[in-house]
Amino acid sequence: MDKLLIAGGQRLSGDVRISGSKNAALPLLAASLLTEERVVLTNIPQLHDITTMVQLLGRLGADILIDERCSVEVKAGTQITALAPYELVKKMRASILVLGPLVARFGEARVSLPGGCAIGSRPVDQHIRGLQAMGADVQVENGYVHARVTGRLQGARIMFEMPTVGGTENLLMAACLADGETVLENAAREPEIVDLALLLKRMGALIEGAGTDCIRVQGMKSLHGCQHRVVADRIETGSYLVAAAMTRGDITCRDTRPDLLDAVLLKLKDAGAEITTGEDWIRLRMEDRPQAVSFRTQPYPAFPTDMQAQFMALNAVAQGTGTIIETIFENRFMHVQELNRLGAQIAVDGHTAVVTGVPTLQAAPVMATDLRASMSLVLAALVAEGETLVDRIYHIDRGYECVEEKLRQLGARIRRVQ
Ligand code: UD1
Repeated sequence: MDKLLIAGGQRLSGDVRISGSKNAALPLLAASLLTEERVVLTNIPQLHDITTMVQLLGRLGADILIDERCSVEVKAGTQITALAPYELVKKMRASILVLGPLVARFGEARVSLPGGCAIGSRPVDQHIRGLQAMGADVQVENGYVHARVTGRLQGARIMFEMPTVGGTENLLMAACLADGETVLENAAREPEIVDLALLLKRMGALIEGAGTDCIRVQGMKSLHGCQHRVVADRIETGSYLVAAAMTRGDITCRDTRPDLLDAVLLKLKDAGAEITTGEDWIRLRMEDRPQAVSFRTQPYPAFPTDMQAQFMALNAVAQGTGTIIETIFENRFMHVQELNRLGAQIAVDGHTAVVTGVPTLQAAPVMATDLRASMSLVLAALVAEGETLVDRIYHIDRGYECVEEKLRQLGARIRRVQ
């Protein structure tokens, strides 16, 4: 199993190119099932989760062409088998995103239940209830969600109990081929949903309000093919900026979107970073030891849960005490124990973590437990005294493209070992 060996103490500097967003690319790939024509997606990051989604589309019967310049072409003709098997779905929860497009286009789909995951139980009840409101008969049997509809799905008014990113994406895609108007209320507002709506509009869909909490869709009989470039990864961007802030560095993230990172940039400024931005770049300079920051994770545009672990690492070496409240997932503090093994002082009480900054961390063997948690350990290792071995980094390979190459290019001493 691959591990990362990191020698701490290097100040990061230079430029880093930000990849296309994993969380945008996954629903975009699923959306290609909505048409029999060719959908070409560019700026697709090379990541394990993307491979899983591409494998799933292939298993469903789609023709796929991948070129070495990060573009994927999908043609989901008429030979689709609407069955997403457990062995692929269990690898990645986002596989559930094929459910909406499959039922909407083929009238029936069987998709394995994704089950729990390390950061919480994460049910899909909102996805199911939405499809039921659109007239689908949905049964959960033998670990599979089996959805059927006679004729087309019917447009409906759907009120989410909580803003769910995946739920909004699944029903947005389904609504595009439904009969009549669908209104999604209390919808999630994440930039990945806006990117999905952009693709769907290019495919001929009529959508208003993506990026707000009320999305209106006029269903069409069919959609057509198109080409679309995946939006930049705001979480990858934020992670490298935190790395620069922690190492008192000076880096510029290129090919990114500063406008999608308001809440994160605000907290980095509170921590003492000097930030300048252009249309597609962000430069961060940090002279002194960071100041601890406090925040609560919330749906977009507030502070993202996917940046919580990285800021926990920053607070661990900051001046002062920061309080972090996680409101999205019930079990997303698994990195705390590992950070404490490196000498951090973090106390958890329910959904709240209180981090008392220490002047230095010390290297130790640590283990990644989920995707963003693993990045927090890499960040801590970058400033720890000595060589830290981060185990189980297959988690990081799910979501960070070429992580060690990018960090090495910025001056980190990092290498992959078996
Ligand atoms: C997506 C992101 C993930 C991010 C999360 C929150 C992808 C591939 N993943 O995950 O990186 O951390 O958004 O920003 O884009 N919930 C229910 N019932 C449902 C659906 C969700 O109770 O039917 C709950 C979840 O358990 C969770 C909360 O709603 O507590 C938010 O989950 P959701 O927004 O759906 O997250 P994902 O789409 O799975």
